[in-house]
Amino acid sequence: MADVVRFRLQDQHAVDALSRHVLGHDAAEAGRLRWGWQYLQNPNNPPDGPQIWVAKEGPTVVGQQATMPVRLSLKGVEIQASWGMDAMVAPERQRQGIGEALFRAWDHGTGAALGLGLSAASLGLFRKLNWPRAGHLPCLVKPLTRRALRNPDWPVPVNRLLSALTYPLVRVVARTRPLGAQVEPIRYFDRRFSELWDQVAGSFGLAVRRDAAYLNWRYIEPPHVRYSVVALKRDETVGGYAVYRHVREPRGRATVLVDFLADPADRVGLQTLLRWVDREAAAADSDKIRACSTHAGFRRLLRREGYFPVRSSIGLVAKINAVAVPRGFYERTGDWHVTLGDSDQDR
Ligand SMILES: CC(C)(COP(=O)(O)OP(=O)(O)OC[C@H]1O[C@@H](n2cnc3c(N)ncnc32)[C@H](O)[C@@H]1OP(=O)(O)O)[C@@H](O)C(=O)NCCC(=O)NCCS
Repeated sequence: MADVVRFRLQDQHAVDALSRHVLGHDAAEAGRLRWGWQYLQNPNNPPDGPQIWVAKEGPTVVGQQATMPVRLSLKGVEIQASWGMDAMVAPERQRQGIGEALFRAWDHGTGAALGLGLSAASLGLFRKLNWPRAGHLPCLVKPLTRRALRNPDWPVPVNRLLSALTYPLVRVVARTRPLGAQVEPIRYFDRRFSELWDQVAGSFGLAVRRDAAYLNWRYIEPPHVRYSVVALKRDETVGGYAVYRHVREPRGRATVLVDFLADPADRVGLQTLLRWVDREAAAADSDKIRACSTHAGFRRLLRREGYFPVRSSIGLVAKINAVAVPRGFYERTGDWHVTLGDSDQDR
């Protein structure tokens, strides 16, 4: 049986070889582009280096479980936690318990193990380990053009008919609405965003600490993806932010609202950010805007702003080790703040 140990930089070549073996050359190359940023530059890394576990047979790495360390806030009580990601075991060693040994090492080494966007294999492994699952990350879509509702599996006449029938509704939903506060594009999160986080952290049952250091690393510095970021200005303070990007998809163009934050009680704040993103999406000729949020209050506001719930396949797992959580904690996710920006879901 392989030995499960913490990754050291000397293992890098062996891990690259494993990635090529499991994922194929192109996906492994794409992973290399983000590796240094993802695993070495994370401001929440512990002093002893990246939190990656590898399964070794001699010098050969046959499996890895990598993680993204974060500070996790449970109603303002902060614990150390990590999102699990880039789990892989060499195909000839799969179904021999190596994945399980790696997940257990990660679980022992973290205050809370978190997973988002799970493959069928990792979902099977979470099930086998009996870790609590928190369902799926709820997602919503706002249609902006008649192309938004097209389905590539349907014949052209059906799509045309659907577009014609829904167009009046789409026009109403997509109409421009006034902004209730000042919004400004930014390229840097300053200390006021950490202050905002400190003010709102207590409202969320579970949320990754979104302070300036985390936000700059997560949304300004990635080498492989470029985000647009806007701040909601209130005199000398900030009341929120939104992070989004425009993507080309097989069915047209979409704007993805990757992450956002405002006080859940500040309806006008989030509404203003959403309306700004509406305008940007229209200017980019997007057919729709996509957003995901566990927070019931945020979702209510999204619906009021023209978003419709859609089926989500993004599985969410959380296992809190550092503190006791009340019964039913993992079933009641309506006050959690998890978005597409969490973990490495958007990449
Ligand atoms: C996910 C992965 C790391 C699991 O590693 P592993 O060493 O095969 O895991 P284990 O042998 O410890 O398997 C434990 C359990 O996981 C589940 N599991 C593993 N592979 C599975 C698969 N292909 N389909 C469904 N369930 C699977 C099963 O419940 C299994 O228990 P069982 O063998 O008693 O049925 C491995 O399958 C892998 O590298 N997959 C490809 C990459 C991937 O999907 N990564 C996850 C990204 S989120």
